[in-house]
Amino acid sequence: MISKTIEKALQHQIALEAYSSAVYLSMASWMDSEGFEGAAAFFYKQSDEERMHMLKIFHFINDNDGHAMVPAIEAPPKSFKDFHTCFKNVLEQEQKVTQSIHELVNVSLKERDHAANNFLQWYVSEQMEEEKQVKSILNKLKIIGKDGSGLYLLDRELGEMAAAAPEGEEAGA
Ligand code: FEO
Repeated sequence: MISKTIEKALQHQIALEAYSSAVYLSMASWMDSEGFEGAAAFFYKQSDEERMHMLKIFHFINDNDGHAMVPAIEAPPKSFKDFHTCFKNVLEQEQKVTQSIHELVNVSLKERDHAANNFLQWYVSEQMEEEKQVKSILNKLKIIGKDGSGLYLLDRELGEMAAAAPEGEEAGA
């Protein structure tokens, strides 16, 4: 059984993951409309992954006698300045999620909830991986600059990453 405090904090995390899923879906659609098919595939996949992150918390709450709620979320941006800005926004979003996960871990320690603490460790590792991947993409974008052929190659690489990621695993961010 989880405490009301943990349930409330997890519910907040559900909303964050749902918003990430919506933002990445919006980025996928924008990339599609701009002709970046690889990046679009990457973001469609990533949006699915964020929904999976949200669902895991749903099940954890309900499996521990709580009641997970579908969150109200704000609409994500419809368009983005450019390819580079998109990924900068991804890093900011992921850093926000990481901070929230760390706060959740603190709550679980304060509540002496070992089950929740154990559950959250998966998210701690996941966030480290996610931030690492998006930083690596941003480093490549720094090298590429405004070079169109470099962007073309990166787009292709992102598409390959999305195709190679097994079901339930990260395509990237
Ligand atoms: Fe579920 Fe990318 O944070």
